[in-house]
Amino acid sequence: MSSALAKSAAPALVEGEFHFTREDFVRVAAMLYEDAGITLSDSKATLVYSRLAKRIRTLGLRDFDAYCRLVASPGGTDERGRMLNALTTNLTRFFREPHHFDHLREKVLEPMVDRLRSGGRLRIWSAGCSSGQEPFSIALTILSVIPEAAELDVRVLATDIDSNMIAHGRAATYTDELLEPVPQAQRAKWMERDPADRSQWRFGDAARSLVAFKELNLMSSWPVKGPFDAIFCRNVVIYFDEPTQEKVWTRFNPLLVPSGRLYIGHSERLGGASAGYVSDGMTVYRSQAASLPGARR
Ligand SMILES: C[S@@+](CC[C@H](N)C(=O)[O-])C[C@H]1O[C@@H](n2cnc3c(N)ncnc32)[C@H](O)[C@@H]1O
Repeated sequence: MSSALAKSAAPALVEGEFHFTREDFVRVAAMLYEDAGITLSDSKATLVYSRLAKRIRTLGLRDFDAYCRLVASPGGTDERGRMLNALTTNLTRFFREPHHFDHLREKVLEPMVDRLRSGGRLRIWSAGCSSGQEPFSIALTILSVIPEAAELDVRVLATDIDSNMIAHGRAATYTDELLEPVPQAQRAKWMERDPADRSQWRFGDAARSLVAFKELNLMSSWPVKGPFDAIFCRNVVIYFDEPTQEKVWTRFNPLLVPSGRLYIGHSERLGGASAGYVSDGMTVYRSQAASLPGARR
């Protein structure tokens, strides 16, 4: 039997329009791990099927085997990026885990107000920012403490591996439904109806100028300067295996100013990387490590 025939004879892992075998699932999972550090458990087979079936239909391919061969080939680089975008989980919302924003305001921002008004610098990194709700929640928290922040040396870096999410964040437009957690007064002050689509709201210049969106893979090199007063990396490493999670937490540490804060997701733990941090509240940590040369505090 030829190998193509043997493959089409292999039982389907998920029944549907396109033949999808366990071997196809394993190949997709290996590529996703290699590219993004994301691990896919067997329970994700249906999700992989439904997300990639759309791509297979759009490309007019016969089955998952043809798709896997395409994305593994040198000519399939662009499609491999689309596969990655299709498989990331981008669930997010404004002011998710609100206690982090209270902590940011009280423990990081309020003590810095005088320094910032006399020329000091504030840098915050939202790593794994999805469609922008997290970095814009940070920006709104900053503006609630320092309304003139856009005129000061204050920046929020927002990065994600998913190019669609970065495009969404840059557009800075959100529906009423998505904006529900944003207090009306803040929305009225810092947002306007999107002139291109009156059913949506767009962040105004003050909030947009605080946030810079960039594509960045946490598994690759990080072309970021730092040092950061705070890093938010929440509900991102939950998709990585433990050694990969610890590597990420450890790499953040020297990018924080001394006592800089790391905010992580409610179900995440620092594990073996905890030596470089001390707890500073619920899923908030303070860096203990020496920072980059030139870091303050
Ligand atoms: C569930 S969302 C979390 C968004 C936000 N931090 C929050 O807590 O609401 C996870 C995000 O991590 C991103 N992500 C996954 N793997 C990544 C990687 N290797 N590098 C950078 N971002 C990654 C995904 O694209 C996704 O947008």
